[in-house]
Amino acid sequence: MKIIVTGAAGFIGFHLCKNLLKNKKITVIGIDSINSYYSRSLKKKRINILKKKNFFFKKIDLINKKKLDLIIRKFNPETIYHLAGQPSVLYSFKNPYSYKRNNITATEVLCKISKKYKIKNFIFGSSSSIYGDQKRFPIKENFKKKPKNYYAITKYKCEKIVEKNFKVSSVNFKIFRFFTVYGPYGRPDMFIHKLLNALKKNKQINIHNKGKNLRDFTYVDDVVKILINFSIINNKVKILNIARSKPVKNIDLIYKIKKIYRQKKENFNFIKTVRGEMLKTHGCNKKLIKNFKKFKFTELDEGLAKTIKIFKKYGI
Ligand SMILES: NC(=O)c1ccc[n+]([C@@H]2O[C@H](COP(=O)([O-])OP(=O)(O)OC[C@H]3O[C@@H](n4cnc5c(N)ncnc54)[C@H](O)[C@@H]3O)[C@@H](O)[C@H]2O)c1
Repeated sequence: MKIIVTGAAGFIGFHLCKNLLKNKKITVIGIDSINSYYSRSLKKKRINILKKKNFFFKKIDLINKKKLDLIIRKFNPETIYHLAGQPSVLYSFKNPYSYKRNNITATEVLCKISKKYKIKNFIFGSSSSIYGDQKRFPIKENFKKKPKNYYAITKYKCEKIVEKNFKVSSVNFKIFRFFTVYGPYGRPDMFIHKLLNALKKNKQINIHNKGKNLRDFTYVDDVVKILINFSIINNKVKILNIARSKPVKNIDLIYKIKKIYRQKKENFNFIKTVRGEMLKTHGCNKKLIKNFKKFKFTELDEGLAKTIKIFKKYGI
């Protein structure tokens, strides 16, 4: 089976490739522009870990229509996982252009080419941020969307692009809305790795909204297992949350991490709420569990222990 993963040098794309490659019958082409949003060296390290007989890496930008068309035509994959993009809420206020380019335009180009070559399965990684601040919890897939920052607006627009291209086509498409994914080799701009880096360097870290924000932390291996096992089933279910559905206050998470890391010294400053940030994420995973019975999410303590073990060993 031949599979393309976009964003292969990124956090979730890397873990997806790593798990797909355990099956020797699968050949993966990983695509990534290795942009400089965060450490290129970390992205290159991830790609080096993936280097195996059945893995090929193409450093290209998805908005390069010609090169992308050539790769897809020649390789003729059965499945495309689209995980490349510009993440992060806060950065979207600083550099909105990157979101238009790497989320909207890149998704448009990829969808058009995938449609042209009648790809069998197209899977898109969307975000819980499209729900914005809700009053009722847990958040179901059909709740009103209230994106409160440009990142969320572009992710929602990408969902619409995927639906528009594939709704009336033979392509089996699925959209998964990820809730705060964490794990080993995580993104340095996200809370857990920011905190780990601060602990390592004995630096202070700012805690938004005095640590009262709640996040539905979901372990990366769970996300990847769902992507591999449940996305290529061609059924009517097109949009699904991937959430552990057990939100945790950031301040409680900090104390958990410090305990596992064995660091008692206080190293944070409490600051106000930050513009555009959601106060609480808590996804409903009933639809997912109903369709894919027996799925068990990793407990936070176990996922954190694995993440911190890798961080202490390799510093990433
Ligand atoms: N990590 C999370 O908690 C989370 C939560 C919700 C949604 N998501 C979504 O999941 C996807 C993967 O997230 P991640 O955490 O792995 O992010 P990431 O930044 O680690 O990975 C994204 C990768 O895409 C690449 N990329 C960006 N623009 C590109 C382009 N035009 N052409 C080719 N490559 C390009 C980047 O170089 C990067 O390596 C993103 O679309 C993100 O919006 C992530």
